[in-house]
Amino acid sequence: MTRLLEVEDLRVSFPTRNGLVEAVRGVSFTLGRERLGIVGESGSGKSQTGRAIMGLTPTAAKISAKRLAFDGNDLLTLSPAKRRALRGKRMAMVLQDPKYSLNPVMTIGRQIMETLRTHEHISGSDARQRTLDMLEAVQIRDPLRVFDLYPHEVSGGMGQRAMIAMMLVCGPELMIADEPTSALDVTVQLEVLDILDHLVEERGMGLIFISHDLRLVSSFCDRVLVMYAGRVVEEIEASRLSEATHPYTRGLLNCLPQIEADRHPLPVLERKPEWSA
Ligand SMILES: Nc1ncnc2c1ncn2[C@@H]1O[C@H](COP(=O)(O)OP(=O)(O)OP(=O)(O)O)[C@@H](O)[C@H]1O
Ligand SMILES: [Mg+2]
Repeated sequence: MTRLLEVEDLRVSFPTRNGLVEAVRGVSFTLGRERLGIVGESGSGKSQTGRAIMGLTPTAAKISAKRLAFDGNDLLTLSPAKRRALRGKRMAMVLQDPKYSLNPVMTIGRQIMETLRTHEHISGSDARQRTLDMLEAVQIRDPLRVFDLYPHEVSGGMGQRAMIAMMLVCGPELMIADEPTSALDVTVQLEVLDILDHLVEERGMGLIFISHDLRLVSSFCDRVLVMYAGRVVEEIEASRLSEATHPYTRGLLNCLPQIEADRHPLPVLERKPEWSA
């Protein structure tokens, strides 16, 4: 399998008033043209892993890795200009909260057009058409209307889809999707997953899919990394997630609600210090 992305011993830490916060503590994995899921509890370092790969870490943070490479290019030594050129064009990330990532003073349509025209030399009318097509592709029913809306004028789910459209419009080879469908109802969620699936299957895109939803990840992805306290504690084929052996993963699985199951007492996740050692 082609190695689209190589991550070895990635570390991200933040100097704070109360000392160093180690958000990511030695994460290693490789990604081919496949769907890789990342699950783990809140604060386990999923988003910071994605952001470090994209080069979207806050400037105060320290990043180190034995290797961080995209299609053979060492990302840690790449100039900021080259990194920017990759971002948006060949690699893209749908951030966890799209409302903060969309520009509040520019209409949705203009933002997507601008992304296109930053990376491709195309005419305004072509860019407009591609933007409308993309909005339609992410199941926005009325692309012409949404094109002219500002981010605060759209619903959470529509904002999420607009963000997905913006990230997909240049046809990236790597897409990191951080909880991309958390604000969508189930039917729209399936449609959006279908689009991502299509891109992986037809165009050979590599997808990192960050989610809290273990069931969704196990049915949608090929492989899953389970993170705990900044580390990968288990890597498993997605279809075999229910057979996971790490006690933390088992704990997550036991917390999944089941229709008609007795929920008394509610399960409590066990956390042992040695898991994060
Ligand atoms: N700017 C920052 N300064 C200090 N610590 C930070 C900063 N950003 C993130 N962290 C810390 O890094 C750790 C990992 O955060 P991250 O956002 O990657 O978690 P996550 O797994 O994505 O969680 P969630 O599921 O809630 O989105 C957390 O402990 C968080 O407090
Ligand atoms: Mg997160």
